[in-house]
Amino acid sequence: MNASPEPLPHLIDVDLGDRSYRITIGSGHLDDVGTICREALVDRHAFVITDSNVGPIYLDRVTTSLGGTSKRVDVMTMEAGESTKSLANCQRIWQQMLHLAADRSSIVVALGGGVIGDLGGFVAAAFARGIDFVQIPTSLLAQVDSSVGGKVGINLPGAKNMVGAFWQPRSVLIDTDVLSTLDQRNYVAGLAEVIKYGLIMDLPFFEYLEKSVSELLSLDSETLARVIARCCQCKTDVVEADEREQSGRRAILNYGHTYGHAIEAVFGYGTFLHGEAISIGMTCAGRLAVQLGLVDSEFLKRQTELFRAVGLPVDCPSEKHDELIDAMARDKKVSKGQLNLILPTKIGHVESIPAPNRAEILTSLKPTD
Ligand code: GLY
Repeated sequence: MNASPEPLPHLIDVDLGDRSYRITIGSGHLDDVGTICREALVDRHAFVITDSNVGPIYLDRVTTSLGGTSKRVDVMTMEAGESTKSLANCQRIWQQMLHLAADRSSIVVALGGGVIGDLGGFVAAAFARGIDFVQIPTSLLAQVDSSVGGKVGINLPGAKNMVGAFWQPRSVLIDTDVLSTLDQRNYVAGLAEVIKYGLIMDLPFFEYLEKSVSELLSLDSETLARVIARCCQCKTDVVEADEREQSGRRAILNYGHTYGHAIEAVFGYGTFLHGEAISIGMTCAGRLAVQLGLVDSEFLKRQTELFRAVGLPVDCPSEKHDELIDAMARDKKVSKGQLNLILPTKIGHVESIPAPNRAEILTSLKPTD
């Protein structure tokens, strides 16, 4: 990755034919939502969905800015937390939209982290058979992953993201300043997805991250903007190649996720944040890759050192390993009875490999050092 500063804002165009959109990344952008996303919002009824953490801090700035562009602005504030991503809440929001005379020309603005982005996107995907939406992600995880690429959805009891759609936003606006109000644990958890891009597809980016730990931990705004832009570009390249996860290319984004989803489910959602679970998951997957001879132990050492340096957990809890393996076998990605795992072959490259036997996976759950 080039070490010289690049001009702000960073603009990334996601080229998906008539579903194309722009990602704008920079500082102070919340005051300019109306102008930056003007094309999507002008003279339309904007329906903002936010949550009880983000709304009190940022909603006024966003609605003020929207007021200069949109015809009408309405707001619905949901309770913060994963349980908000439910069908019952979709119904509440749809009823409220109906009550406010939303129609096919209305546009949903999702202001929040991954929960609000996924929920707001799904609300938009299904209302009146699909209306436009704009993503304004406010967590690092949402900024580098879930706000880009059009995966939207809700949870069913016991089944995360089980109901959803591919529904691309009309625009994504990322303001790096909002990360200053994100709590440290959630910020660090987001770094797991950041590091993942280096590991799966971008060695120079991984090397840049290794050299930028102190800037990342001090929220240096120039470093953050460059890092988020690089992640969004990586994700864009993957999504442009395989929008609906059909060719296998998009599956590389699931590195560490089969382990990670199992860890989240078995130890209870919220015990580990998603980013923490996939940091442990990538460590287990890296260890499995060493066991299978796909990478040498130096790979695992470098990966683990970077996770540890930013404060991410790497060790799987020592109990419930049989339950974890059972949960992995139920992964949404199991196809025709075969579980494939995304495993590294070197830093910057991963491949989809049929899962080995249970004993090998059990060994990969146990710390080696
Ligand atoms: N977060 C994985 C994907 O968007 O495909």
